Amino acid sequence: MLKSFFIRANKDETNIKKGKKMARKLLIAGNWKMNGLLKDGVDLAKGVAAEVKSLGKTDLEFLVCPPFPILTFVKKALRGAKVALGAQDCHFDVKGAHTGDVSPVMLTDVGCTYVILGHSERRADHDESNELISKKTIAAHQNGLKTIVCIGETEAERDEGKTIDVCTKQILGSVPSCADAKNTVIAYEPVWAIGTGKTPTSKDVQEVHAAIRKVLSKKLGKSIANKMRILYGGSVKPSNAKEFLSLEDVDGALIGGASLKVEDFLGIAKNAVK
Ligand code: PGA
Repeated sequence: MLKSFFIRANKDETNIKKGKKMARKLLIAGNWKMNGLLKDGVDLAKGVAAEVKSLGKTDLEFLVCPPFPILTFVKKALRGAKVALGAQDCHFDVKGAHTGDVSPVMLTDVGCTYVILGHSERRADHDESNELISKKTIAAHQNGLKTIVCIGETEAERDEGKTIDVCTKQILGSVPSCADAKNTVIAYEPVWAIGTGKTPTSKDVQEVHAAIRKVLSKKLGKSIANKMRILYGGSVKPSNAKEFLSLEDVDGALIGGASLKVEDFLGIAKNAVK
């Protein structure tokens, strides 16, 4: 009697968890980084658009994030396909004397609905702090953009067993309190897995994602945390997509290298299961 109660209770718990994942639409996001000239970008966007159209109705949300100079052209090439446009960074000011920077308003003006913020390459190459990323996130939200806030540990930090501590600090510092499930997506990207072909085990990924959701719950409340999407990023490809995307707390992927080939990007999407 007692045993069957526990079996039932566990089953109910699984269903509730499954329900939560079902409620979070999987996001398949391509981060093109500093790759491709105008023609490459337009061809890639056209290819992605055609393939996404041919998939028909799906439960997936698609996004591509090309370099700044080709955003407008990519937007045009995506016409008619359900593929959102995003940028890879923005400034926290809307205009002014910031040579070389791009404001969130400029991004919405050319059709972006998303911006990636705090990618580890920007944290490393441009010394971006959690505080700066939080400021940019607030500005992006105030100007109508959804944000993908990136976090993740280095190899040394992982070896020292600091993964969860590092991710916790990054979330607390770079996700502002105005973040909610509609305007913010988190991307967990272990720095050592980016572009290397190395990946954590799926058990490790699930563990970190669950820990991230716990921190989000403390910071933003349980209801927001349960609805907020947490993407995995770092050497995602068609052959490992199912393994990661079927995990309970993984709600999509942020894809670098494999987003530069139509068949790989769509191959990942086709392996996305809830
Ligand atoms: P990768 O990059 O898929 O090439 O590892 C992911 C990212 O940096 O967003």
